[in-house]
Amino acid sequence: MLVAGNWKMNTDLTAARQLASAVVSAVGATSGVDVAVCPPYVSLDAVFSAVHGSTIRVGAQDMHAEDSGAFTGAISAPMLRSVGCHYVILGHSERREYFGETDASVNAKVHKAIAAKLVPIVCVGERLEDRDAGVQNDVVSAQLKKGLEDVSSAWPSGLVVAYEPVWAIGTGRTASPEQAEAMHGHIRGLLVDQFGEEIGRHIFILYGGSVKPGNAAELFSRNDVDGGLIGGAALSAEDFAAIVRAAEGV
Ligand code: PGA
Repeated sequence: MLVAGNWKMNTDLTAARQLASAVVSAVGATSGVDVAVCPPYVSLDAVFSAVHGSTIRVGAQDMHAEDSGAFTGAISAPMLRSVGCHYVILGHSERREYFGETDASVNAKVHKAIAAKLVPIVCVGERLEDRDAGVQNDVVSAQLKKGLEDVSSAWPSGLVVAYEPVWAIGTGRTASPEQAEAMHGHIRGLLVDQFGEEIGRHIFILYGGSVKPGNAAELFSRNDVDGGLIGGAALSAEDFAAIVRAAEGV
């Protein structure tokens, strides 16, 4: 199981330090659950220091597909490694919607992340109109196939997939456990097709979209739900720790 907090564009440096320290205290020692926090770029270094000595790892929310060069405003995989990042979220629906991220750019970043020994958390998920039209599996299949094209992950912990239905992100509307389980089973099939049984069965598939302390246990208890990518609730150390506990309990 993996529980990762996506802080999005929240917390300045001081608040990020405080939240990271509070998360370390609230989460404490964990068993059977990996925990990560993904603060804004400018706080990565400070948050890495704040969680140092705990089991909590640090991730970034995006990266550029090139290592260096004339890309004003961009941050590369080696830079993320240099500040202690273990994970990088790629293809989040907000990146796709507001920053022109495509499956092709996600794919380029996934390759670069893996080459830099960062673990990509690759986000997929359908919009409400896709679900209403009943094409959610096709949409997610296309995102995953293109996003992971030519990726041959040699070990399962080197790749994480997050299923985040767009209509459930930040809306307070969660996929039902049945909907989550059905899509996670679909994604598992795609991963087994691509990577074979041994690796495909062990890649973590996270659910994301309005996960809260009150619904986490039920979602995490479902087949193929290997934890969560947590947005709003990750900004409260207590709520985030409660969600980690829920993951420990399954
Ligand atoms: P949310 O965000 O938990 O606030 O819905 C999840 C995400 O966007 O990763």
